[in-house]
Amino acid sequence: MDIFIDTANLDEIRQANDMGVLDGVTTNPSLVAKEKVDFHKRLGEICEIVSGPVSAEVVSVDHDGMIREANALTKIADNIVIKLPCIVEGLKACKTLSDRGVRVNMTLCFQSLQAMLVAKAGAFLVSPFLGRIDDIAGDGVQLISEIRTIYDNYGYDTRILAASIRHSKHLVDVAKAGADVATVPFSVIKQMMSHPLTDVGLEKFLADWKKGQG
Ligand code: E4P
Repeated sequence: MDIFIDTANLDEIRQANDMGVLDGVTTNPSLVAKEKVDFHKRLGEICEIVSGPVSAEVVSVDHDGMIREANALTKIADNIVIKLPCIVEGLKACKTLSDRGVRVNMTLCFQSLQAMLVAKAGAFLVSPFLGRIDDIAGDGVQLISEIRTIYDNYGYDTRILAASIRHSKHLVDVAKAGADVATVPFSVIKQMMSHPLTDVGLEKFLADWKKGQG
């Protein structure tokens, strides 16, 4: 499963990238607003650090506005992926851009039928938001499994990107459910390589080694 970081913070992106296992980045308007920086400039900086797909979200809600924004965003770097919302105008823009060879990430996906339509429109990625589904007492992991089954039944190429990940158990669950990618906050990326028994075990090995060496 590919691991993307879900942030527009350069320091977090650098630290995650230095771990050597980062495959891409997702941003959204809320994450960019938090950084209080120029959007295009920040995307350029991110693309200098990470060579994998970097999702940049439009804020227009009509087809033509989305295409105008996408045209400007794709000029920033070759690895920019255009992020569009799962609404009818977004679906139409997805088809237009995908037909032109532009990679699209369809975001704010909350039901498998949205995922089916965006696959038919040629989306490169679909982003089901499992944390937000769990927040309203739904089952986000079940949505990922449902989309996996539908995509496999019909051979759709769109990659399933598990988004809105809240904790490491979500990651295990989506990996078991067959997500192709998970986009993860930096706090959760750090949890992935950390276990108290690893720390205790390492401490003991090193202490025993020291004793053995006299
Ligand atoms: C995905 O690309 C989104 O940026 C993100 O995962 C949203 O997560 P949230 O529900 O934590 O805001």
